[in-house]
Formats: sequence, structure tokens, C-alpha cells
Amino acid sequence: MVQVNNICCIGAGYVGGPTCTVIAQMCPQITVTVVDINEERIRAWNSNQLPIYEPDLQEVVESCRGRNLFFSTNVKEAIKNADIIFISVNTPTKTFGMGKGRAADLKYVEACARQIADIADGYKIVVEKSTVPVRAAEIIRRIFQTSTKPNLSFQVLSNPEFLAEGTAIENLKNPDRILIGGDETPAGQEAIEALCEIYKHWVPKNKIITTNTWSSELSKLAANAFLAQRISSINSISALCEVTGADVGEVAHAIGTDNRIGRPFLQASIGFGGSCFQKDILNLIYICETLSLHEVALYWQQVLDINEYQRRRFASRIVSCLFNTVADKKIAVLGFAFKKDTGDTRESSSIHVCKYLMDEGAHLAIYDPKVKKEQIIRDLTHPTISEDNPGRVSKLVTIVSEPYAACENTHALVICTEWDIFKHLDYERLYEKMLKPAFIFDGRRVLDVLHKKLQQIGFQVETIGKRVHPALSSHVLSCHKKQDQTPAKKIKT
Ligand code: UDX
Ligand code: ADP
Repeated sequence: MVQVNNICCIGAGYVGGPTCTVIAQMCPQITVTVVDINEERIRAWNSNQLPIYEPDLQEVVESCRGRNLFFSTNVKEAIKNADIIFISVNTPTKTFGMGKGRAADLKYVEACARQIADIADGYKIVVEKSTVPVRAAEIIRRIFQTSTKPNLSFQVLSNPEFLAEGTAIENLKNPDRILIGGDETPAGQEAIEALCEIYKHWVPKNKIITTNTWSSELSKLAANAFLAQRISSINSISALCEVTGADVGEVAHAIGTDNRIGRPFLQASIGFGGSCFQKDILNLIYICETLSLHEVALYWQQVLDINEYQRRRFASRIVSCLFNTVADKKIAVLGFAFKKDTGDTRESSSIHVCKYLMDEGAHLAIYDPKVKKEQIIRDLTHPTISEDNPGRVSKLVTIVSEPYAACENTHALVICTEWDIFKHLDYERLYEKMLKPAFIFDGRRVLDVLHKKLQQIGFQVETIGKRVHPALSSHVLSCHKKQDQTPAKKIKT
């Protein structure tokens, strides 16, 4: 049995940081060192201002940092000392060359493999934590096989992480399952067993699934694709609800009580965001295309197309309701993160809704409790969002530090992230501050139970997947007809 005393994790991001923090807390006898080339990030991990916001993360870090959990930029030393090395670096979608806009860029994974081969001696278990295309482990293996070091031996495992941001610590402490894939040889099985032993410190044995390497890699892509598919399915139904008078909340409840369908991931929204769903589906599509599985590729492309349609549909509804123009109108945008309880904005639907509104000339006052001003500006001035006119952001966008300031003299309030605090705002006070008629566009259905009250205050309420204002039905219908005639305008990614 392989004895594991030291773990090194390369990449101190949203996956590597929380995952290794929980491993350190659960396995006090193992020294866990998380390394990154980004000095600022490591400094933040060693401070009281962690580089990412995640509920309960600060407490867990503080319970073991300096004891058996270390954050460092000394990648070489950590690799040398480690028995197990997790690769948790970013695998973004390629922005150039072959597979541009679809394939995962594995340059950071490859760089890690080369560095490990260069530095390591003796026996190492190298674990892919980052989400990678099927057969990525092959790349790592090939690089190690070319090493001429006589005493270097290794096993490569796939151990994808299924945590969701905002609930990362809870997901890591009580996972639905742990998936470990490896070589079917005795040496491969022994490495799988060594990694299982780590998780067995807190995860019941029956929740640890072991497979071959390729099943494990593909399962991660498939899990994300299935989850995203459910959101696109319910969002497609939400469009139908808005024109028929059905309520997507009631439909989701009715179908979710069927055990075969289940309740989770049926919350209609302005579309899914986050670093994984779009990237992984694009990656899946690319793999299918390169393997000539065109029908399969087209099938998954639809999940992304509906997501884009939902964002565009929501923005079009805002424009239509505001009398077909938002040019020079002020709109408050509440929420910029891709979901609540995170400061992460990667692929956030808010970015796309803001883009569409800026394209129409709207002035935006944006508030988010956890996203920094610089991040919002960076996202909105990105070439894919502001194309050749990044200067428009300084003219059209103001970032505010509290929600009431955002609503001063606005025509509409748009909720883009489901932060709990938005349910408890003083809407009478907000109404006073706004121009009339005052509109609320609830892109997350967080105000469902308040609709009557909001209408009594005087708001005109519009929400995803439901007709709140019967008097508007013919208007909404005409918005939909117009949208149907507009050809889909794709945002380059
Ligand atoms: C996802 C997977 O859930 C996780 O297993 C994987 O490891 C990484 O990708 P994450 O992106 O962090 O996690 O968050 P998730 O909770 O899945 O939400 C993704 C997006 O879908 C968010 O924008 C969220 O608001 C949206 N969503 C989720 C909906 O619109 N409706 C839902 O019912 C659920
Ligand atoms: P994820 O959401 O997958 O965790 P992040 O982008 O948050 O992705 O984190 C990935 C981290 O990996 C970044 O902090 C980046 O600096 C780090 N990284 C990338 N390549 C290397 C490398 N070769 N050595 C060390 N760290 C790396």
C-alpha cells in the first residue's frame, strides 16, 4: 500500500483552494501544500482576505492553515516532497487556432506535467482535478514516459471535482460521490486505492466510485452537460409559459415531483453561467465533431443555443416593456455574479444582459454584494462584450455600493443574480426613488411571493416564465412575435 504523507496541489483557484483545504481539515496527519504561480493569489490565501468568496471557507482555512495546510509559490519544492500531486489549473476554451471557441486549452495542464517530469523523483501519483477532455490523461502519461530519469515512476488518475460554487464546502464535506478513474493494471489499481484511502477519512466507502480513466474524464463532462440541459429545458418551457399563461414555477414543481425527473435544477432563470457548463459543453461538442459524431454535437449545441436565447429574450423583454426603447434610460442591475454566494462572474448571464442593454444605449447602475468594481468593468470592456467600443462602458455604466443608490431615477430595476438580500429590500423606498411607471424585471424569480405587494406599491412586475400582469398579455405576446422574427445574434466566446 502506498503511504501518503504529503499532497501538493498545483493551482490555487476555485477548485484547488477549497478542495485541498477540506482534505487538510479531514486528514490532519497529511501535509497539504497548495501552490500557484500567481503570487498575489497565494498572498491572499495566506491573509484574512481570501482570493475567493465562499461561505464557511475562511473558517475551514483558519482551522488548518500553518498546521498541515500551506499556500506557497514554491512549486518545485512542493512537487519534490509530494506523494500525490493534484493538477487543478485552469483549462479555458481556446481563443485561437484549431478548435477556437470550443476545444479546451490544455496548455496549463501540459506545462504542469512537464514541470513535474522535470522536478520529480521516485514514485508519484498525479491526479487530474481540472475538468479535461476525454483522454487528456494520455497527454500527461506520454510526457512522463519520455522522462529519462531512472528512478521516476508514476500513475495518472482522473478525480474530477463536482463542487458547485457557493456551496463548495458543503459539497466537499458531504459529496454525492467521489469519482476516481485509473489504469486497469495492478499498479493503476494500487494508485486508485491510495487516493481512496484519503477520501475514506470522511466519505463513506459506498460513495466512492472507481472506473477506468476515460469513463471518469467523460463522466465529468457528461454530468455538467446533463445539468445544463435541465436548465435549458426548463428555460425553453418558461418561454412557452409567458405566452400561454402557465407559470413555470408551477410546471417545475409538477414535473419535479415525478421521481424519475426529480426537483433539482429546474429553476428557470436568465440562463446558466459559471466557468464550467458552457466550457464543458463546447468541449463535448468539439470532441464529437472531431470524432464525426455530428448529430451528437448538434444535440448538445442546442443546450447552449437555448441559453443564449434566454438571455437575449430577457433583454428584449426589458426593451419592449420600456416602450421599445431604453436609449438614454437609466436601469438598475442588481446582481452581477453568475449565481448567489459567490463573487465569481465567469460567463455570468448578467454580463450578456448588460451587453444587450448597452447595445440599446441604456445607462446601467450595477450593484453586486460580492463582485468588485474592477471585475465588472473588466467583464464589460472585454472585446467579446464591447467589441470595438470599450469606451462606451465608462459612458454608460456606474458601479454602486448599495442597492438603493442603484435605483435613483431609474426606469427599471433588473434582478440578474438570486442574492437573498434582494428578497428583503425596502421596495417602497426603492419605488420612491424610481421614475414612473417603475418596472421590475425579475430574472431569477426571487420576488415570486412579493408580486402582489409590489403591484400594490405601484410596480409593474415582469418575471421569467410567468405573466404577472394580465393586462400586459397582448403586449408580451407581441414582444415574443417580434423576437421570433429576429435572427439569433451570437456572442463570440
Ligand atoms: C457546476 C456544477 O453544478 C458542478 O457540479 C461542477 O463541478 C461545476 O459546475 P457551478 O457552475 O459552480 O457548478 O454552479 P451551479 O449551481 O451548477 O450553477 C450553474 C449556473 O446554473 C448558475 O448560473 C445558476 O444560477 C444556474 N442555474 C442552476 C439555473 O439557472 N437554474 C437552476 O435550477 C440551477
Ligand atoms: P478553477 O476554477 O478551475 O479552479 P482558476 O482559474 O480559479 O480555475 O484557478 C486556476 C489556477 O491555476 C490559477 O490561480 C493559475 O494561476 C494557476 N496555474 C495555472 N498554471 C499553473 C502552473 N503551471 N503552476 C502553478 N499554478 C498554475
